[in-house]
This record gives sequence, structure tokens and C-alpha cells, in this order.
Amino acid sequence: MLTASIVHKSPHEIIQFGHSQFAIVTRQCYHLMAGSLDSRGFMHVDMARINGHNGLIGTHHAVNDGSIGLRAAHQEENLGVRGATCHANFLLGLFAIYIKTIGSRRLGIGFHEMLHHLRMRSVVVVTFKRNHIRAIYIYEIHRCLLVAKIIIIFLILSTKLKEKFGNVICFPYLCAHIYLINCHLMKRLFFVMTVLLTVTTTTRAASQAVLHNVYARQITSLNGNWQIVADPYDAGYYDYRLKESANGYFKNDQPKSKGDHVEYDFVDSDALLVPGDWNTQRKEFFFYEGSIWYKKDFKWNGQGQKRCYLYFGAVNYQAEVYLNGEKLGMHIGGYTPFNFDITDKVKKGDNFIVVRVNNVRKPDGVPTVNSDWWNYGGITRDVMLVETPETFVDDYSIRMPKGDYKNIEIKVRLNQPESGVKVSVKIPELRINKTLTTNENGEAEMTVKAKPQLWSPQKPKLYEVLISCNDEQLRDEIGFRHIETSGNKILLNGKEIFLSGISVHEEAPFKTGRCTGEQDDKTLISWAKELGCNFLRLAHYPHNEQMVRLAEREGLLLWSEIPVYWTIHWNNPATYENALNQLRDNMKRDHNRCAIIVWSVANETPHSEARDKFLAGLAQEVRANDDERLLSMAMEVSNTKGNVAEVRDYMSSLVDIISFNCYLGWYGGKPADCDTRQWMIPQDKPFFISEFGAGALAGLHGDAAAKWTEEYQAEVYRHTLAMYDRTPGFSGCSPWILMDFRSPRRQNHQTQNFFNRKGIVSEQGVKKQAFFVLQEFYRQKNTK
Ligand code: GCU
Repeated sequence: MLTASIVHKSPHEIIQFGHSQFAIVTRQCYHLMAGSLDSRGFMHVDMARINGHNGLIGTHHAVNDGSIGLRAAHQEENLGVRGATCHANFLLGLFAIYIKTIGSRRLGIGFHEMLHHLRMRSVVVVTFKRNHIRAIYIYEIHRCLLVAKIIIIFLILSTKLKEKFGNVICFPYLCAHIYLINCHLMKRLFFVMTVLLTVTTTTRAASQAVLHNVYARQITSLNGNWQIVADPYDAGYYDYRLKESANGYFKNDQPKSKGDHVEYDFVDSDALLVPGDWNTQRKEFFFYEGSIWYKKDFKWNGQGQKRCYLYFGAVNYQAEVYLNGEKLGMHIGGYTPFNFDITDKVKKGDNFIVVRVNNVRKPDGVPTVNSDWWNYGGITRDVMLVETPETFVDDYSIRMPKGDYKNIEIKVRLNQPESGVKVSVKIPELRINKTLTTNENGEAEMTVKAKPQLWSPQKPKLYEVLISCNDEQLRDEIGFRHIETSGNKILLNGKEIFLSGISVHEEAPFKTGRCTGEQDDKTLISWAKELGCNFLRLAHYPHNEQMVRLAEREGLLLWSEIPVYWTIHWNNPATYENALNQLRDNMKRDHNRCAIIVWSVANETPHSEARDKFLAGLAQEVRANDDERLLSMAMEVSNTKGNVAEVRDYMSSLVDIISFNCYLGWYGGKPADCDTRQWMIPQDKPFFISEFGAGALAGLHGDAAAKWTEEYQAEVYRHTLAMYDRTPGFSGCSPWILMDFRSPRRQNHQTQNFFNRKGIVSEQGVKKQAFFVLQEFYRQKNTK
């Protein structure tokens, strides 16, 4: 008696007729197969219907171990098969049988063999054990799952291995894995993926973890004039087949004999100042978007057991960095620092650095192609050589734990996992003098009792902190404060605070272009202080470190943002990775700055599921790395009915402050519309106006209804401030914007000339009427 059972929930049905007759019917597609078993256990396929074609197969090749390839299906139903893999193989298998049935059995069998060889078959395998029919179907699925598991393990392990041992270990490890996976097609597939992965991850890995508090380390500035070669066609980077050239301008070649062929030179070339953008240094580069090669020579006399790093404060947008003709790596993102360990590459004596800087805007970039500020290209912040001991304090955190007013938590981490290393931490004014000993991860932490004077805008008290390890001493100035929300209030050091803010771009006053030094920052901060501000929104990207430290010394609270601006590519994993890296590098650089109270992950981004997922990921990253600062982003008004406007956003549930931009009276409506406007804003959190404003040409006067006049701008300020001030939960604002700034989207020649004129101070320092309207509003707010 034949028995039959279905081993796996395969889409097959084994129907048994009588003693040795059976039929296998697949539910998903209408094929039918029937046959019988002879006493020697051979199966004879008597009849098959494939895609409705009747056909006789006769004896099909049988394998003694009792397993043969078969396929059958059920008529009139075509549901399609579960899971792509088996679907594909199923069809392939069908095709094999089909060929066999209608004609060349050889071809049919051949095809079948091939599938068999590739182990990529998904045919019904009937095994006979003492007259028991068993169907084993999802053999491949298992294999697929197995392979998938292996890939995941490999990914996790290789990242860990790379972190621990760098790339050297990676490849042999990969090969071992590949060998393990003995499946031709999968092996090939896996091999390609692995190589791709290695290439991408290794390049990224080249720019290592950013050194923290770099200005406190032993540094040699490389600022100043750098020779340049403008390269609009990237002739120095690609060969004429657009392949990355092995002999590009990074070689800094010079003809050694009269027959030598070199078509570029840095010797007699022009020079540009670093730090600085190229657009405002040379008329011919004002609109330039493309590549410029920068070259700098330097002498290195490196002493003793020191590590040496090449550090960039920021390069907009993409930087390929070479030392003595050898590629160190690449960095993407125009506003965050990066560095390369050049200890084993720098030579005693003469060295040269070449950087290919490219500021071409990219749709999948962060920011993307469309923004309302000038795409200043160049090496826009400090460049320096940084010397450290072999083992040094890479990062530290000194703060009061969330909600704890009696203790200071100290955490240090070395650049490598070394245990037993002594790190001394002194805060002389608080009589704190502690020595920490690192564990096997090179980390140590301690909590000490202390009651420091709390930092606040009124009293921006900073304490000198000295962190010493081996023969390096890092000096820092750290303030202690507490920031939180309670209902719809923002509390600083436990007391409600109104954020009297202003938005700022990193545009230099008077000379315009990227801010390049303390004087630019000082001027902007002095105007903000004169306004009566206690808060700055640093828009829309991380500003330079000196600006953040200066604001902290001046008692200005800060909003720090990454350029996830307008409509970026939400579904693109590389874009997400880029945004995440910028967020991480920003938090790593400034996490000890007490002035920063808000991390912002986006500005004016369109609603979609992909966007929500993207931003929620960034929000999670902030939460995972900072349990104290407030999280926000600049949202938009979601809908307006009559005079009732609503701010509804998926992210409202994830942020601490509901912040939004609104230009009532400028991009729509009249200033007076503010007088009747009602707001529907989630009431369980404070709300903050991250932008409002109007354009005005300094010195242009007229009646208050005439756009572009100072009077009109002042009118918008009056009505807008009054509107929000009567709305419950209003916890502050940072009107758009402190100073006029360059924008490629502003081409009105009478009033704009490529400047966004919403500043309340012109780029030449002229204060517009609105400056004084806001000043008065803050004076009253701060005296209440
Ligand atoms: C937007 C945007 C700013 C822009 C401003 C404006 O809200 O966030 O980057 O400059 O509006 O239109 O002036």
C-alpha cells in the first residue's frame, strides 16, 4: 500500500489512486502528472498535462536513491508561486519538463541537469521509503535562508572585524566565507556583493573617527595660500574614458626633462586662501560649481612616538585627499570635520597634500540640488596637522547627568582599546582632580560630587577642564546646565525660559562668503546680542566650531542642524547614510558644548512614509547618543482653513519641541492677517517658530504696504510677534534671518542681486527697522 504525505507546506498535492498509482497536483499552476511505481521502486510517468498541453512522457529517468525531478499543476488556477526564488526555479523546472515533453528529451534533461547542478531546482522530489511517498519541495528555500543567514553573519562580523583590525583582516575572512558557501550561482552572486561592499566600506573607513577638541591638541596649521588648478572637466581625475585616473593631478607631476609631457602645474598656478570659499575670492569662480585641485607643501620633522593626523574643519562638498601622490581617502558633506591618520605615510622633510574639491550639487546629496543659500565651494575651514601620543584620549564627556544637580559624570575613551591607561581629569575651580584607569575597551568613567555654578545666558559660566593622558594635555572650557521640557514649557536649569532667538547663516558680514575667522563670528554674535537674543538657530548645517564656542562664551543657547533640507532622496540608503554620518560627526564634534540645547534633523521636508522613516531614523540616532538635549526639526504649516492654521506632522510625536516655519504676510497674505490667525498646534509640547520674516532692502523706505521696504518688513515683525505671543505654548522664535545672505534663487535686480534680503541687518551691517522691532519685543520678553 502506498502512503503519501506532504513534508513541507509545498504548493503540491499528492493524490493517490489505488495501490501504486499517484498524481502530483500543484495548486498554483495547472499541471498534472500521474504515474505508477513498480515494485523495484521505479516510477513511471504515464501522463502529464503542462500548461494545458497533454503529453505522454513514459519512463522518466529515475535515480536509485528514489528521488527524481517532477512537476505538476492544477488546471484553471494560476495563483503564482510563493517567493521569487522558488517561483523562478519552478518556472525553469516547468520549462525543462516542457522541452522534454514536446520534443528533445535531451534538451529537457540537459536543462534539468543544469538546474540540478546549480542546486537551483525547485521540483517536487519524491522519495520512496518502503512505499512511502515523501515530497521534499523547499530544499532551495532552506538553502536560500541558509545563505541569507550567512550573509548577515558575515556583514555583522566583518564590520566588527574591520573596526577591530581594519581592512587587512577583511579579505581573507571574506574568501573563507565564500568557500564555505558551495553554491555556484550564489557563490558568484555573493562574491560580487562582497567585493562591492568591501570597496564601498573601505573607502568610507579611510576618514577615521573625528578627533574631538582638536584645537586643544598639538597642531600645525596648514592654512594660508594653497596652489590651485581649476578643473571644470575633471581632466585631472578621470582619464578620457572617464575612469578614475591613476596618474591624475594628485601626482603633482612636474616635467623633469624637456621631453616630459605634463599638462597642468601647481607651480605657476593661481592660489586661493584656506580657509575660504572660491566663489568670493575670484570673480571667475563666483558661479563656479565643479572641481578645483588644491595643493599645499609642508615640512614634517615628526619627533618620537607620535601619531600624526591630517585634519579638515570642512570642505564643500566632496573631497578626495592625497598625500605625496597617494590617496588617503574621500569625504562627503560640506559642513563637518574629518581627518586621516597619516602616521605611516608622512615623510620626514618635504611632503605635499593635494585635495580634489568638488562642489557639484547632487540629487542624492545632503543637501540636494535645491537650496536657498550659496553653494560656496572650497576648503572652507581650518586645515591642520595634529600630533598625538601613540595612545591618546580620543573623546570625553564631562556633564551633569540628566536631572542630577549634585554630580558631574566624567567619561573618557582612548583612540584604541587599551586597558590600564591612566587619564587625569582636573577641574581646578571645583577642586576636582581625579585619575581614571581605562578598561579593556580603552574606556573609563566616574561620577564625582560637585555643585558647579550653572551655565545660563545671563551667567555663561565655563569651567577650565584639563584632561591629561601620556604626554598630551587637553584643555577645555565646559559649562554645566540642565535643559528639558515640561508640558508646553522649556526649562533651563529647572526654570522656564523663552528662547529669544534669531536664525543665522554662516555668511561673513561685509566681505560675504563663508565665515573664515573669529572676527566674522564675533560680528554676527555682537548683532545678536545687541538684539537681546539668548538663542541662535545655526541654519541649515553645522557651523564652524569657533562660532559654537564663541556663542557659548557669550551666553547664547544654540540650535544645531544638519542639511536635510527640502526634498532629498528619502528612499536612497546612501543618502540616509550620508545624513547619518553628518549627524554623528556634528554630535561628536560638539557634544561637550553646553550652549547647544537642540539637535535639529531637518528643515521644511515634504510629508511621505519614506521621509517619516528617514527622519525617525535620525531622531533615533540622536536619542541613542544624547539623553538630554532637545530634539527638533523645522516643520511646516500642514493646512489652513479660513484663518485657522494647523501644524500636523508624523514627527510631532518624536520631537521635544514643535518647531515650524511660517511666512504669513510674505509668501502669502498680509501682515494684518496675523491679527485674526488661529493656531492648531499639538499642545502637550512647547512650540517654537524656527522661521518667519520678510524681505527688505536696507535703506529702501516707503509705506508699510510696499513690499521690500523696511517699513513692510517691520510691519510683518510686529503682527507676527503679537500673533504668536498670544498663542499658548509659544516658547520662542528665531526669525529669518539676522543678516542678508547670498542665494542663487534671488534674482530681483532692484532689491536682491543674489541676496536673500530677509536679514534685519544688511550684509554691510545696516540695521533695518525690523531689527529694532524685534529688539524691543525681546527687551519686554526678557524683563517679564
Ligand atoms: C525657507 C527656508 C530658508 C529660506 C527661507 C526663505 O523657509 O528654510 O532656507 O531661505 O525660507 O524663503 O527666505
